[in-house]
Amino acid sequence: MSNNLLAGKKGIITGALDENSIAWKTAIKAKEQGAQFILTNAPVAMRMGGIQELAKECNTEVIPADATSVEDITNLYTQSKEILGGNFDFILHSIGMSPNVRKGKPYHDLNYDWLQKTYDISAVSFHKMMQVADKMELMNEWGSIVGLSYIAAQRTYPFYNDMADAKALLESIARSYGYRFGKTKNVRVNTISQSPTPTTAGSGISGFDSFFNFAEKMSPLGNATAEECANYIIMMFSDFTRMVTMQNLFHDGGYSFTGISEEMIDQMK
Ligand code: NAI
Repeated sequence: MSNNLLAGKKGIITGALDENSIAWKTAIKAKEQGAQFILTNAPVAMRMGGIQELAKECNTEVIPADATSVEDITNLYTQSKEILGGNFDFILHSIGMSPNVRKGKPYHDLNYDWLQKTYDISAVSFHKMMQVADKMELMNEWGSIVGLSYIAAQRTYPFYNDMADAKALLESIARSYGYRFGKTKNVRVNTISQSPTPTTAGSGISGFDSFFNFAEKMSPLGNATAEECANYIIMMFSDFTRMVTMQNLFHDGGYSFTGISEEMIDQMK
C-alpha cells in the first residue's frame, strides 16, 4: 500500500545484488512510495543477480560504482544528478564485505591487507559517499542518509570476525558525519542495526543458521526480515523522522535489550 511517503524525493540506493538483498526490497518500496532513484553496485556485481531487472521494475537506471573509489562515486553522482534532474534527498549505504570472512581467516589470524579492504568496503566507503556528496553540494536540506549495521559493533560475536570492527567504525562515521551534515545542511545520518537476515552477505558468515535461530528465540518479536528493514529505511527517508540523527537504531525485534528469553532458559535446562 502506498502513502506516497517519498513523493518528489530523489536519491541513491546502493547494494541491491539479488531479490534477498535489503537494498532490493528498499528499492521496490521506495518506488511504491513515489521516490525517484538511481541504483548502483560494484562493477563485479553487475554480472551476478538481476539488478537490471530491478531497474526495469523501478523504471530507473543502474550506474556501476565501486564504493571504495572516490572517482567512481563522483561519476555516479554526476550522472545521477543529470538523470534525476536534481540533488538528492536520500542515500542508502547497503554495502558490506570482508575478504577475511570470505576466505575463512579467523580473527586471531587476520590478513591485514584484507582487513584494510574490509574497512574500506564496509565502513570507509560510507565516509567517502558522504564526503563526495558534501563537496559536490548534492544533498538537499532535510535529506536523510542511512547505513546498515549489526550488533556485533557493541557486543562480541566471534563468528562476525573483522566485520565487527568495521561496523563499529561505520557507526562512528555516522555520528561524526551526522554532526557536520546536521550543522551545514539539516541532513540526518543514521545507521540501522538489523537482525540476522538470510542474504548473500548474511549467510556468508560462518554459523549463520545457528545465530539466526538463536536471535529468533531471543527476540520477543522474532527476527526482523529484510522487507521489514526496508520499511524502516523508507520511514527514515520520509519527513516523519526529520529530527532523528547520529543514532544507531536497533531494528531487531527487541533482541538488543533482551537479557534472556524463556525459550533460551528452557533450552539450557
Ligand atoms: P547483500 O549481499 O545482498 O548486499 C551487500 C552488497 O554490498 C552487495 O550488493 C554487494 O555487491 C555490495 N558491495 C560489496 N562490495 C562493494 C563495493 N566495493 N562497492 C559497492 N558495493 C559493494 O547483503 P545484505 O544483507 O542486503 O547487506 C546489506 C547491508 O546490511 C550490509 O552492510 C550488511 O553488512 C548489513 N547487514 C546485514 C545483515 C544480515 O544478516 N544480512 C545484518 C545486519 C546488517
